[in-house]
Amino acid sequence: MELVFYPNKILREKCEEVTDFDESLDKTVLDMFSIMYKKNGAGLAASQVGIKKRIIAVYAGEGSVAIINPKIIKKEGSETEEEGCLSFPSLFLKIKRAKKIKAEGQNTKGKRIEIDVEGLISRALQHEIDHLDGILFIDRIGFWKKWRLKRRLKKLLPGQKER
Ligand code: CO
Repeated sequence: MELVFYPNKILREKCEEVTDFDESLDKTVLDMFSIMYKKNGAGLAASQVGIKKRIIAVYAGEGSVAIINPKIIKKEGSETEEEGCLSFPSLFLKIKRAKKIKAEGQNTKGKRIEIDVEGLISRALQHEIDHLDGILFIDRIGFWKKWRLKRRLKKLLPGQKER
């Protein structure tokens, strides 16, 4: 399992629902946690390690959580904070997101889980759930900012194309 970087095409694809809750899912989640720790990330989506499945891992202070087939069911307030992404090394952008969210999904055994979070975890969850739909944090900064950023990225990554 290896980290995938922008502008790899898989980062723009929509991930598929997980329907098999077998041992390979636990293995995938453990591997994702270890990459997340190694790279000091606040979260990781399966597409970022080349797996087109709806699996996310989020760092939650004293431990980490993995949510399978996650969905946001409630959003409250808004907050703008600086954010990074393991697929964009050394790029940090101020992104506006909901302050608090309620999310649901499943654990690796297929059991339904629900969480209420705010702050960094809430932000990381929203960022990772976006990944599952092929949405990246550079899409959340507004049209002109994104246009300027893309010119910057083009210089940093010559010869690579992205929509
Ligand atoms: Co990311």
